[in-house]
Amino acid sequence: MQIDIKNSAGNLTSNQLKYLLNLKQTAELKELFKTAYQLRINNLDREIYLRGIIEFSNICSKDCYYCGIRKSNQKINRFKMSKTEILESAGWIYKNNYASIVLQSGERNDPEFINFVNDLIKEIKNLSNNKLGITLSLGEQDKKTYQKWFELGAHRYLLRIESSNQKLYENIHPVSHSFKKRLNCLNILREIGYQVGTGVMIGLPGQTIEDLANDLLFFKEIDVDMVGMGPYVIHKQTPLAKKIVDEKILKVRNFDLALKMIAALRILIPDINIAATTALDALSPDGKKRGLKAGANIIMPVITHPNYRKDYQLYENKELIGVSAADEFKKFDLSKELNAKIGYNKWGDSPHYFKRN
Ligand code: 5AD
Repeated sequence: MQIDIKNSAGNLTSNQLKYLLNLKQTAELKELFKTAYQLRINNLDREIYLRGIIEFSNICSKDCYYCGIRKSNQKINRFKMSKTEILESAGWIYKNNYASIVLQSGERNDPEFINFVNDLIKEIKNLSNNKLGITLSLGEQDKKTYQKWFELGAHRYLLRIESSNQKLYENIHPVSHSFKKRLNCLNILREIGYQVGTGVMIGLPGQTIEDLANDLLFFKEIDVDMVGMGPYVIHKQTPLAKKIVDEKILKVRNFDLALKMIAALRILIPDINIAATTALDALSPDGKKRGLKAGANIIMPVITHPNYRKDYQLYENKELIGVSAADEFKKFDLSKELNAKIGYNKWGDSPHYFKRN
């Protein structure tokens, strides 16, 4: 290895990041993942934290070129779960000691939607005696809405920048979407006091290793608390899929790159929460586990009711329809293989957040 990664924690240049992302040799990759994993243990703890995610509606006003639930995709059934169904799932998450819930849906900005979310936050706080930590992943909203949801008790927000390269961002979104607006949302969320999570897709058509290194530096620059990033995965009913020449090569490349991104990020910012995302599992049966071995410390089991999962396919092969959260768990033998255990009943906040000035 040309760089002393063990002594580079918190401090990698763009060239060093590119070097890591270009690694191919098994021995070097092993060293990279081992270093990242050790840094997680040293800076956080041995525990893996859970966020049960409920994807409560696929109705979306956005038209992102990569996403299966984009507005123009007329081949899917649009659904919204009822309040009762969502609260039932939230109750399951609470009873199973996950401690944290993520509410995600397609993006909507109308008052009916905003009020619906207001009620959900209140009622989830109620049913859990204020104990469930609430993370929102509901896209771009105005400051007033973000503020309101924060006051009602949501304390983390996920909004991926998708790519920190504005040109690439513009290539994968229609002109009506604005890179500046998205950046501004991230700033507002931080100002309000949320723990802020962002992320990118890895291996997009036209994306270079330099872009990915810059994405990692971008996370550091905006001082994020959490990152969820995963491989770009094809969805055939989207315009971006048409740009892919060889799907097989894409899958292998993007999976490998995603693991390297996780490890490099753990070295660059050791004390943030990094999720082993669902998209990893779409490309490899033990994808999330390998993400954890490469330095991630969060998993987000999908709690969305099996009836709705087939209509929430952002990309192909997204968590197998009908697999329960409990089944998903059996896949991990955390104690033996990872020398780690699940941090039940703990929010598992990112230590980074508490060091903010
Ligand atoms: N491949 C991988 N990730 C995707 N997302 C949406 N579509 C895809 C895809 N085809 C991710 C985006 C979004 C998150 C909710 O899902 O990064 O922010």
